[in-house]
Amino acid sequence: MKHEIVEKNLGLLVAFMVLAISFGGLTQIVPLFFQEETTTPIEGMRPYNALELEGRDIYIREGCVGCHSQMIRPFRAETERYGHYSVAGESVWDHPFLWGSKRTGPDLARVGGRYSDDWHRAHLINPRDVVPESKMPSYPWLQEQVLEGDHTAGKMEALRKLGVPYTDEDIAGAREAVEGVAEIDAVIAYLQHLGTALSDRR
Ligand code: HEC
Repeated sequence: MKHEIVEKNLGLLVAFMVLAISFGGLTQIVPLFFQEETTTPIEGMRPYNALELEGRDIYIREGCVGCHSQMIRPFRAETERYGHYSVAGESVWDHPFLWGSKRTGPDLARVGGRYSDDWHRAHLINPRDVVPESKMPSYPWLQEQVLEGDHTAGKMEALRKLGVPYTDEDIAGAREAVEGVAEIDAVIAYLQHLGTALSDRR
């Protein structure tokens, strides 16, 4: 009988639904903020250097995440193809996360060290030069556009506020590290660093 009151009163029903879903969500999400496994960086990990960080921003700008995930699931089919499954501690300094959910192309979580810099260069300029059947778009402008580094130090300072352990030295040398470098080299530096802190490949 009392249930009928809720069922016949739309406002009340919506209020109870929101309450139920929020409670369910919070009990799943809140503990993650306090679990060591999800908040502690894995051993031996270092933050992206200035060039890799710029490369990461270009990766975001070009929408690479729309076709590439960076999240290896703990299934045999995935670990045999890509290497050690992804662990939360590898992502604690990633703001925003680039785990992605679409795999038009392969997962890139452990692509670091899998190919040479020259392979990546050729592949980014025109994927079909190295993988004839590739559907990946070409990014020829990455070799023409050059980084200026106006915002690199600012980005690192912002990340430091979020807990990424950049030193004053890292930040002071940021512009010098990237100024005049072609965007393609920044993207390659980023790709070569991906997943290398925890890798059973090397
Ligand atoms: C429209 C979807 C699409 C977009 C966008 C895309 N890729 Fe790809 N990518 C693919 C496909 C499909 C492959 C597999 C064929 C190949 O190797 O070219 C691939 C392969 C790769 C590989 C080789 C991975 C491996 O393990 O063999 C790398 C590295 C890569 N892409 C990087 C990038 C980067 C960096 C960007 C953004 C600048 C990007 N991709 C954007 C579809 C895409």
